[in-house]
Amino acid sequence: MSWARATIVVALVTGCHGARGRDGGDAGALASMADTSTSEAGTALFANPASRCGECHGAFEGQWRRSAHGHSQTTPAYLAMRDHTDAARCDGCHAPLDRLLPADDPARGDGVNCDACHTLGETTPRRSGGGFTLHVDDMTKFGPLCDAKNNYFHKVQCSSFYGQSEMCASCHWMVERIGSDELPVFTEYEEWQSSRQGAIGISCQDCHMPEESTAVAVGARRRGGVAHHDFGADNPRFRSSALTVHASIEARPATVLVKASVRNENAGHDVPTGLPERRLVLRVTALDASGRKIDGAERSYGRVLVDGTGEPAPFYAATRIGADTRIMPDETRDESIELSLPTAGELRLEVVWQAIAPTIANKLSLPTGEVILLHGASKVDKPGSRHPGAVATIPLEVAP
Ligand code: HEC
Ligand code: HEC
Ligand code: HEC
Ligand code: HEC
Ligand code: HEC
Repeated sequence: MSWARATIVVALVTGCHGARGRDGGDAGALASMADTSTSEAGTALFANPASRCGECHGAFEGQWRRSAHGHSQTTPAYLAMRDHTDAARCDGCHAPLDRLLPADDPARGDGVNCDACHTLGETTPRRSGGGFTLHVDDMTKFGPLCDAKNNYFHKVQCSSFYGQSEMCASCHWMVERIGSDELPVFTEYEEWQSSRQGAIGISCQDCHMPEESTAVAVGARRRGGVAHHDFGADNPRFRSSALTVHASIEARPATVLVKASVRNENAGHDVPTGLPERRLVLRVTALDASGRKIDGAERSYGRVLVDGTGEPAPFYAATRIGADTRIMPDETRDESIELSLPTAGELRLEVVWQAIAPTIANKLSLPTGEVILLHGASKVDKPGSRHPGAVATIPLEVAP
């Protein structure tokens, strides 16, 4: 398999800081104020763990620690998958600083931390994955604010890049080449490009980094439009906000017919997106009057990748798409499911997000990481009872 490797070019150009607009001081003075590492060539690298940034940007650090970016090189799923492949292929995006820093550097192990994103400057994301440049050759932090002032710890440089989806595409875009074929892996950016939201310029940041009014650093003035940094972090409410789900039931003599529509209303990309192993599941269960399960069924949406033998495989071992049932932006999926239920009882419906599809989770001895997004229940009456055959809507609510 040919691998799309995330290349990181470290800009180690010294002596050309002028272009980044610093206000006095020389590289030597800056080096003495900032935490530095030394590369093999002996050149100073200015990279820091998030805890250092948190000394002045504590709120950001807290949000980042709760986010997926804060766990990008430590989750059980990542470690399990990384063990089965050439780890260097993974670290480019999951541990972008580790490849640059000496073994004992405190900024190692920090994953996609502040410096991974705020030394990016402006780069051109590539379809083959990664391909970004980390400017760790001096103590400049790039960001969206054009009126921020340099401080004793770091210089600042503004760039409109930080408000654009291309910034995220640096890592959220990876289509592998396998011979003359393509294997799509991370395609959030491509999906966004062809979405309604992409067409009208609603960026990844607009949804994933909602704005608030707060001070950006200790002692700095309050500003509007400050970007939240948990990126939606495994928040069932945020996840369920992508969907509009309607469901109704119709009692029949021996069965109950469930009609459900699942619409991707508010995500600027497919649902599920990201890791191909993610699944969205519509689950219906019929129970009798005593609460005993009589029947059940599921519809699972996702991108199923398979290996050479056609078996479902994790993305790094896959060669082609077996099936793709993800729900595209503004697409509605209508399902009609008939469950056996001879007596009166109850119908339960759940919309569930799975971090890893059960088949793959089993292979890797990982949990599926199931999260209930929406749930609801409705009574099922039977012919002879007061409302025979009546169609009732299942009221759905966001799971707590
Ligand atoms: C081009 C950048 C890039 C490369 C290279 C990359 N990943 Fe990822 N990875 C991502 C992004 C972006 C996500 C977030 C998608 C999501 O959350 O669904 C992610 C998410 C994951 C997750 C989900 C983590 C969890 O706990 O749920 C796993 C597991 C993972 N990657 C494994 C790997 C492995 C193994 C490799 C090496 C074979 C690899 N990745 C290489 C960008 C990359
Ligand atoms: C995954 C990339 C990413 C990570 C990780 C990240 N940031 Fe950001 N940060 C951004 C983006 C993108 C913006 C601009 C958002 C916008 O303008 O919509 C931003 C904005 C900022 C700003 C400017 C104020 C604002 O919100 O507009 C500061 C300060 C900042 N980040 C600090 C941090 C610190 C400190 C950390 C680590 C604790 C961190 N960031 C981690 C991407 C990141
Ligand atoms: C000594 C305190 C301090 C530390 C430590 C610190 N910062 Fe800052 N940072 C500031 C101040 C002050 C501002 C400007 C705030 C303002 O003007 O509202 C700022 C602004 C920023 C901005 C906005 C730049 C722009 O132009 O948009 C980013 C990004 C940033 N810091 C990232 C970091 C990162 C990454 C670290 C850790 C490597 C870090 N900061 C550590 C004080 C600090
Ligand atoms: C219009 C709002 C919107 C836009 C624009 C948007 N997203 Fe999302 N995104 C969401 C919602 C809502 C979810 C939760 C739904 C879900 O879990 O699939 C989500 C989920 C995700 C996930 C989680 C995947 C997983 O399940 O682990 C990733 C990664 C992601 N988005 C990345 C991006 C990137 C990168 C962009 C820009 C190229 C982007 N998003 C643009 C709303 C948006
Ligand atoms: C330096 C690489 C990098 C950049 C730049 C980056 N990401 Fe990520 N992102 C990742 C990786 C790696 C993961 C997977 C972390 C994990 O779960 O292991 C991830 C995970 C996510 C998730 C999943 C969140 C969750 O809770 O499941 C979202 C959403 C996301 N990123 C959005 C964004 C957005 C929006 C931007 C741009 C502002 C961005 N990312 C920029 C590497 C990056």
